[in-house]
Amino acid sequence: MEAYRELYRRAEENPEAFWSEQATNEIHWFEKWNHPFEWNPPFVKWFVGGKTNAAYNCLDRHLATRGDKAAIIFEGEPGDQRVITYRELHRLVCRFTNVLKARGCQPGDRAMIYMPMVPEAVVAMLACARLGVTHSVVFGGFSAEALKARIHDLDARIVLTADGGWRRGKEVRLKDAVDEAVKDCPGVKDVIVYQRTAQPLFMTEGRDHWWHDLDLGVSDECPAEQLDSEHPLFVLYTSGTTGKPKGILHTTGGYLTYVTSTMKWVFDLKEDDVYWCTADIGWVTGHSYLVYGPLSAGATCMIYEGSPDYPAWDRWWDVIARHKVSILYTSPTAIRALIKQGEELPNSHDLSSLRLLGSVGEPINPAAWEWYHRVIGKDRCPIVDTWWQTETGGIMIAPMPGAIPLKPGSGTLPMPGILTEVVDFEGKPRGHQRRGFPHHQAPWPGMIRTIWGDPERFQQQYFSRMPGVYFTGDAARCDEDGYLWILGRVDDVMNVSGHRLSTMEVESALVSHPAVAEAAVVGKPHEITGQAICCFVTLKQGNWDHHQLGQDLRKWVAHEIGAFARPDEIRFTEALPKTRSGKIMRRLLREIVTSHTVSGDVTTLEDLGVVNKLATQHDED
Ligand code: WTA
Repeated sequence: MEAYRELYRRAEENPEAFWSEQATNEIHWFEKWNHPFEWNPPFVKWFVGGKTNAAYNCLDRHLATRGDKAAIIFEGEPGDQRVITYRELHRLVCRFTNVLKARGCQPGDRAMIYMPMVPEAVVAMLACARLGVTHSVVFGGFSAEALKARIHDLDARIVLTADGGWRRGKEVRLKDAVDEAVKDCPGVKDVIVYQRTAQPLFMTEGRDHWWHDLDLGVSDECPAEQLDSEHPLFVLYTSGTTGKPKGILHTTGGYLTYVTSTMKWVFDLKEDDVYWCTADIGWVTGHSYLVYGPLSAGATCMIYEGSPDYPAWDRWWDVIARHKVSILYTSPTAIRALIKQGEELPNSHDLSSLRLLGSVGEPINPAAWEWYHRVIGKDRCPIVDTWWQTETGGIMIAPMPGAIPLKPGSGTLPMPGILTEVVDFEGKPRGHQRRGFPHHQAPWPGMIRTIWGDPERFQQQYFSRMPGVYFTGDAARCDEDGYLWILGRVDDVMNVSGHRLSTMEVESALVSHPAVAEAAVVGKPHEITGQAICCFVTLKQGNWDHHQLGQDLRKWVAHEIGAFARPDEIRFTEALPKTRSGKIMRRLLREIVTSHTVSGDVTTLEDLGVVNKLATQHDED
């Protein structure tokens, strides 16, 4: 604890010196920077004037000391396995960078990555980084429509994909979705297809190329581009409070410094660890703690392609036992799903290789914490509960294991250099135990640079409440020991299975259906997924079969956004509760789905009858 306090104090007193030291110790620079950072709120630049390369840091610099160390241990869902050393990963990345060059890609271009969880997805990301092509990974669960919107927003020139991937024994077809998306994207010149499932496929002459064909005859040599520290590394789309996802931009030098430092602090990484982060590369956790953080830190990363229940619910425990995984980083929603399958499954595997457990994505409830600690960690592995966001780039609040005593359900204390305070609406500090908003007072190297193409929305969304102070969108309280307890979102963002989704996104999808007049969407508590999507829908004139239409609308939303956004429940109603000025009162709807009653203030409500009907409707169903 003393060591942590000392580190924290140093970072607080002299952030320039602290972060300079981190960047010097953790990252290779081709040219050193002139200033540690320039802060013109809301815009920041880190390690200004420095030159580096993310792929170089994840690969080349390890070759002398870790060339023969496994960088990736891969297990496909069907059971196929590969161990890829740092030397081999370097070779694969160099070759694919040459492929991208041969297609005419240049630093500053944008590439979409829409791939299953196979090592080539990592190769694709690192090859883009090596060349300076800004990548945007789209989770394979997103639909063609969602992919198309992201390609347009980024004006991407190339799409890197695969025929499909394996999930629950079935092929998830990705290239078909790319075909549907790209037909309306004239800016996309090339689609490169990695062959994973080898199922029949249609290739468009001139546009689509097999990865293995382009790989023939390219060189193993490819020097990394020397890129500016602020060169855009990736854009990752995430849900905000409007219907349009926002492209969160992260750049190179600061991001890499931050994820490498936090990777070491939070996971207390040892040379012989086998580290397994179960997140998909399509989410920020997959970027920061499956690819850039661990590879930059020289770790061995486990990657598993498929579903935890295939062929049975003990697949993860089997993977841990066979590959001797020592660090497991996963989400509370996954833990809750696994709890349901009972203790016998984990108990029948040797989990003694585990030494540290991690949690991310939502507050971990006491029952899940206790089970994770007792059944998986055998009461000997600390649990690091890590709070952060796509926008923060890396972990902001988490215990340093061994140093900081744990309290189940709390992310404990902020990382060194992260000045977090729980404040009220006016920005005044809240006393202990009082609910407020966690704010981050000083810039940090991993923070969001802007929203792609929309600097105004960036300013408005994160910095308009208090100038120069980053607003998270979460509520929290701080206890008498200074420990932070995250209480969940305060905006219209839902958290379904640890995936961020805005209520507006689902509403926009619903009202684009010809039968729907109006829609209001709220998250309702769910035992496993944390929240489930509940939709209140009014219909246009017509003779609708509610049962059939309910099914159709759920499918429709999955088609518009992605299968993970399929609503749990569709409730048809004659009217939605609105204020006299016509705003839908989502707060009331939230109360209705949570408690089936309404207790709050309803004085601004237009028609109380609507609410009473909605509140009793569920019980009648
Ligand atoms: C929530 C995921 C409590 C939070 C890395 C945040 C958490 C949102 C935790 C960001 C945690 C994430 N405890 N809540 N340990 N981790 N959250 O951008 O509401 O997908 O604002 O990033 O997830 O989700 P995102």
